[in-house]
Amino acid sequence: MTAIAPAGTGAPGRATIDAKTLRTDRWWIQPLITVLVLVAFIIYSTIRAFMGSKFYKDPYISPFYSPCLSKAGCGDAPSIDIFPSNAFFTPAIFILIFPLGFRLTCYYYRKAYYRSFWLSPPACAVAEPHQSYSGETKLPLLGNNIHRYFFYAGMVFNVILTYDAILAFRFERDGGHHFGIGLGTVVMVLNATLLWLYTLSCHSCRHIIGGRLTHFSKHPVRYKLWGYVSTLNHKHMQLAWVSLFGVALTDVYVLLVSSGAFTDPRWVS
Ligand code: FES
Repeated sequence: MTAIAPAGTGAPGRATIDAKTLRTDRWWIQPLITVLVLVAFIIYSTIRAFMGSKFYKDPYISPFYSPCLSKAGCGDAPSIDIFPSNAFFTPAIFILIFPLGFRLTCYYYRKAYYRSFWLSPPACAVAEPHQSYSGETKLPLLGNNIHRYFFYAGMVFNVILTYDAILAFRFERDGGHHFGIGLGTVVMVLNATLLWLYTLSCHSCRHIIGGRLTHFSKHPVRYKLWGYVSTLNHKHMQLAWVSLFGVALTDVYVLLVSSGAFTDPRWVS
């Protein structure tokens, strides 16, 4: 049987250093914050996904429950009536597979959670505790290679959420619909915009647009688009976080207005 060579700081040719790291700064703050934020989001989204209610207040719908797959609770929003209102598995549980799969396989989030949850490594110049490294060549991490397909799914959801944002300008009054703007409208538009920016800054998007070309000069349109998404790509980490907060806060907003805890301020109605 072939012996597995030690990895990390124990690898052949590496200097023998007993200390886990020689860094003296607070390198652990960043992975700690990452863990806290992601765990908080996972707990919140799980609670909301199983709640199965308070996800719609005319004309706003929570991104967790869009597209609306259960007529009950969606008012007169466009819906496909698949789920009974009392189903244990709510529509959100199925819907969230796609945006969460997109984020879970995202190149940036991979770096973030490999470092913070698996300590692999926890930070630059800090030894990791693992003795071997198989990267993304085995399950479950092998599954991260399907990121490109989640990107396509993410684009579809962006179109749906953009449609929701447009509908957020349509208020019901006197039995009809009128143009209006409320705080929720702004929240919905901001959420859709941030999701587009995050999706278009994706590394897969950049490769789909400008990859596998031998001569950019023969593809001026793709070159131009590649330049735009490359500019966004520089901000991918920031867009990943801000869009995650955007989704969570949009759901919180819909939860508050649909439960009556907060009244949506309306400037035009
Ligand atoms: S690399 Fe982050 S969304 Fe594609």
